[in-house]
Amino acid sequence: MQILGIDIGGTGIKTAIVETTTGELLSERTRVATPKPATPEAIGNTLKEVVKQHQWSGPIGIGFPAAIQHGIARTAANVDKSFIGLPIAECFSKHTGCPVYMANDADVAGLAEMRFGAGRNNPGVVLIVTIGTGLGTALFSDGHLMPNTELGHVFLSNGIEAERYASEAVRVTKDLKWKEWGDRFNLYLTTMESLLWPDLIVLGGGVSDKLHKFSPMITTKAPVVAASFLNQAGIVGAALFAEEELKKIKK
Ligand code: BGC
Repeated sequence: MQILGIDIGGTGIKTAIVETTTGELLSERTRVATPKPATPEAIGNTLKEVVKQHQWSGPIGIGFPAAIQHGIARTAANVDKSFIGLPIAECFSKHTGCPVYMANDADVAGLAEMRFGAGRNNPGVVLIVTIGTGLGTALFSDGHLMPNTELGHVFLSNGIEAERYASEAVRVTKDLKWKEWGDRFNLYLTTMESLLWPDLIVLGGGVSDKLHKFSPMITTKAPVVAASFLNQAGIVGAALFAEEELKKIKK
């Protein structure tokens, strides 16, 4: 099935047409800046343009940086607070004129990695962490997702919220060297390990292709690997999520 996959982040909106049977991108990947302020109306208008650019009229899957419970956004850490309580897929469906299926951005990145990537055929507990404007998490046990884990918001032993201490945005704004940021990120991963005991940790997001720069600082017992789809896991996973939802409707 071909589905338009969209990954909405705190700083950018990435889009491509995805073949869901293989996870391949069938079109060029486009990226536009996330509008500021990132209100439902502003993002909706941007999506309308993106859909037009891809000449798309079919189903759309979207990964969004918030907890999304039964189609309703429950949090809004790096987007406008007016998203909270909004039936978000319905809203973007109106803007784009296409059926829209939405889930948390880290959860959908996890779906892509579990189906086609680094977590494939991995029994046991797999933790996916996406590193970007925020820290996103997806938790799988024997291939099953427990949605909306929001573990980037835990407070670390230093009293600081994890995503305000060890996200990519913090590394860039504070101009941290890889060693310093790597130590911070290691505090996050070792904290996660002590709470969840994953068998495998998969890192996605902007810095996943830089793992070699900070892997010397990582001390978890669980192996830590980069997402096979690197920064594209969100786009592919968004399309996979839409496909799953469509299958449920057809049943
Ligand atoms: C949000 C999560 C999201 C993560 C990565 C966090 O600030 O609360 O929902 O998955 O950022 O975008």
